[in-house]
Amino acid sequence: MAAVALAMMMLPLQAQVTHDWENPAVLGINKLPYHATLQLPSKQKECQEIVSLDGQWLFHWSRNPEERPAGFYEEDYDVSEWGKISVPGNWQTQGYGTPIYININYPFVRNRPSVTTEPPKDWTAYENRNPVGSYVTFFDVSEEMLSKNLILHFGGVHSAMYLWVNGHKVGYSQNSMSPAEFDVTKYLRVGKNKLAVEVYRWSDGSYLEDQDMWRLSGIFRSVQLWVRPLTHIADYQVTAEPNADYSKATVKARISLCNVGKKVEKNLKATVRLENLGDEKGIVPMILPGDTTTIELTCTIDKPQLWSAEKPHLYPFSVELQDAQGAVIEHFDYHLGVKKVEVIGEVFKINGKNVKLRGVNRHDHHPKTGRYVDDATYEADIRLMKQANVNFLRTSHYPDREYIYELCDRWGIYVMDEANHETHGYGYANQEMGEDLAWQQAHVDRAESLVKRDFNHPCVILWSLGNEGAVGPNIEAMYNKVRELDATRPPFYDSDRRYSCIWDDSYLYPDDLKKNAQEVTDKPFMMREYAHAMGNSCGNLKEYWDVIYNDSSICGAAIWDWVDQGLERSEKREVKSEKTFLYGGDFGDKPNDGPFNINGIITPDRKPHPHYYEVQYVYQPLQFVQEGDSTIRIINRDFFTDIDEYEYYCEVYHNGELVTGELARVKDGKFEIPYPYFPYDDPELILNVYARLRQATPWAEEGFVVAREQFVLKPAEFWAAFGGEDAKEPFPCIVDNTGALVSWKVDGKEMLQAPLEPYFWKPENDNQHAAHFAERTAIWKDAAKNRTIKSIRTEGNRVIADMSLPVGADLTLTYTVKADGRIMVDMDYKPTASDLPVMPKFGMRMRLPKDFTQIRYYGRGPWENYPDRKGSSFIGIYETTLKDYETEYIHPQDNGNRCDIRWFEIGTLHEGKKLRIDGNDPLCIRAWDYGEEDLEDVRHPSDIKRGRFVNLNIDLNVHGVGGADTWGKRTLPQYTIDANQPHHYSFILSY
Ligand code: GAL
Ligand code: MG
Repeated sequence: MAAVALAMMMLPLQAQVTHDWENPAVLGINKLPYHATLQLPSKQKECQEIVSLDGQWLFHWSRNPEERPAGFYEEDYDVSEWGKISVPGNWQTQGYGTPIYININYPFVRNRPSVTTEPPKDWTAYENRNPVGSYVTFFDVSEEMLSKNLILHFGGVHSAMYLWVNGHKVGYSQNSMSPAEFDVTKYLRVGKNKLAVEVYRWSDGSYLEDQDMWRLSGIFRSVQLWVRPLTHIADYQVTAEPNADYSKATVKARISLCNVGKKVEKNLKATVRLENLGDEKGIVPMILPGDTTTIELTCTIDKPQLWSAEKPHLYPFSVELQDAQGAVIEHFDYHLGVKKVEVIGEVFKINGKNVKLRGVNRHDHHPKTGRYVDDATYEADIRLMKQANVNFLRTSHYPDREYIYELCDRWGIYVMDEANHETHGYGYANQEMGEDLAWQQAHVDRAESLVKRDFNHPCVILWSLGNEGAVGPNIEAMYNKVRELDATRPPFYDSDRRYSCIWDDSYLYPDDLKKNAQEVTDKPFMMREYAHAMGNSCGNLKEYWDVIYNDSSICGAAIWDWVDQGLERSEKREVKSEKTFLYGGDFGDKPNDGPFNINGIITPDRKPHPHYYEVQYVYQPLQFVQEGDSTIRIINRDFFTDIDEYEYYCEVYHNGELVTGELARVKDGKFEIPYPYFPYDDPELILNVYARLRQATPWAEEGFVVAREQFVLKPAEFWAAFGGEDAKEPFPCIVDNTGALVSWKVDGKEMLQAPLEPYFWKPENDNQHAAHFAERTAIWKDAAKNRTIKSIRTEGNRVIADMSLPVGADLTLTYTVKADGRIMVDMDYKPTASDLPVMPKFGMRMRLPKDFTQIRYYGRGPWENYPDRKGSSFIGIYETTLKDYETEYIHPQDNGNRCDIRWFEIGTLHEGKKLRIDGNDPLCIRAWDYGEEDLEDVRHPSDIKRGRFVNLNIDLNVHGVGGADTWGKRTLPQYTIDANQPHHYSFILSY
């Protein structure tokens, strides 16, 4: 092949004083130039030029380079006793070596370019200084194949690799998330051939790969043998930009051809064939042996259909090379999308519209196979994103496998494609790596490989230079490279804003987002990361989007992040958890950052968390507003989709029971509320509206609800009637001298396993830990337990307990008892001190016998919700079980609350016994088969001691989950409980 390896890769081996893998000047040896994905990923299986070498390879793992089987690539080296490994795959997920999860710091001693400096003795890298994986496979080559050009393609190898074929050294590569290709024609022979690959866990490349993720190694993407004609298409780039009024699009194809054969090729024909639109042909008069040439073809599409995430219209095309006689030498299939990306002043536009990027960040992660993610999981991810109304994906923090981009092209997701570059271990926006010119080419290599591979994907709208890296000339060089390679999509970068078309400021509170975006006036604004979705999180999402929709300079925000990065340990469990997902430290890995990689809106095995649905709701393209008594107006947040493209459906519920369900007739963006006011004079009347897909899409069936809203037309009247005969002493219940309800007998059977008593504490969730929630609110932990009784008295059918709390507050509990055993509980709180810290919750708790597992309630559901994350949980009647009432977080924490509960029933499966709670205020209720104390110091759900009782919390309010970050930001004040104010609530217990 004419193309030559990069100049700096050509150092003669004997001249090297250091290892290639500890030398930033050696990025590869004999690597072929980067180029676009030539054949659509989904069509590669049928492509005759590609032979897959994936499968079971022979494998040997060594702790460090000194112990590796140095001569293993020799033909006579006996590998018959070696173990097996799946390629593609990581070696740590297949039993070799230790996965390490670490965020900012390097897992080896920072001393560039060395990756083998002695670390502290307890680090994983002490014993296993730089593990080496030696891989061998054999494959057959026919005589016919040998007459062609044979190229080995490695989709991704972490972190550095050497390659030998039949004992000959072929080359070397790093830059682990981009393909490495080698021309192996001259080393192959007819019959069996030996392929040997030596992979190093760490290399100088690892200094640029300091991403917050599992640090895994090996050949983790596919290996292919490309059997190519001697004269072939080396690369092609296709752009398709609309003109100013979008009436025409100019398609430009730049096709690079090369001749690696020994004879001159004349009169070749290169064709771009746009399906149903015709061909554009160009003649290449001559290519000399060893030469390359480029041909540019241009054609026009009249009245083009544009590509957008909403309407991902694709034009399939093929690129073909024919010989002088017209015989097809090579043919590749691809697709293009006509679109325009613009930054105009402080406004970001796609196809001329100020679109909003409703985004997520996603790591390429699979719970079983680590960094290798199969096609079906890609499809599941993109389907779940589309269903959640996500229209923007940042491939944090490196290029993913090619197929995901094809899915985004087809199903419609805007992509920020990110270079495999992070040097966070030197500090955010560090100068060390940005100004050290010895590392410049290493930076540029990552930008170049990114843009060159993914150039032809219409989904890509922004090229990201990386994440949390350096500032300075090395970044400038990356920026210039991207500009040089692609004029149609601008570069983005977070750490050195001079080299970014968009101003990024991440993890702000909603108010600061508003303020900061107003201050930046020369560029569009975005939060490339926000709403840190670790554990029970994603509060105040709506507040963010109220700001974003109101400022045309904010182009969007992307949640951190998509999927919990737990690794699965399969075990049979009797308790609730079916699987254990492991995180930092679980493998004895050191140093580690614990559960900090468990921050997705879906689980590792792709099940939505409750906050996934909140994202779906806040990201919905349509919003509904009530106007007056009878009208709903539709707001369309999309630009290329008409509201009439959906069908609208209304449901009206009376006290939770469906009374009517009907299609709405939309006129001028409005429809009438179907008011069945008639027999339903008494509360509560609720309207649910739904926008449904009229037609199936690749990611959802016909009728799928893309947007919905709930309106309380006529509010519930709390303070339900509490009539009936008053109880006379002796009451069927006992209030003890602490004011707690300690016994409540129903039909002679004790209902309580532990008293009903005031309780103001809740365990932290992940978001609250670094914000020192537990410390700040510590006085509330035992505030109820340490109450002092001032008086207890019985007045008629009421028992009244006056007490004071050690925090500085008065509390009065009143139990009003009916002859049939019903009890109304009333709690009244008045602070006497000032400057009290926020109250984790205001309410009571009780424990019921463990067989109370059947739940039915009228309130928000079906999934867990909190005051700052409840928009997606409509009020309704839900039936569930204790098991499903809980949300099992991978890192155990507070969970399972439901808000705005009108009534709640919990009972046994068989006897039919049940407890009922009627709120005289909307209640927050949580039910667990463990106590708050059982959550302390547990690492995994399987560690929780369960099943002794049912722990029921009946609250007026709880502290919101928080929504900004997990390293100090707090729950917004409107979702906290001010303990310096009086609080009061009441509910009725019956059975
Ligand atoms: C961001 C970073 C991400 C991740 C996140 C915390 O600053 O870009 O890679 O580390 O913090 O989960
Ligand atoms: Mg980082």
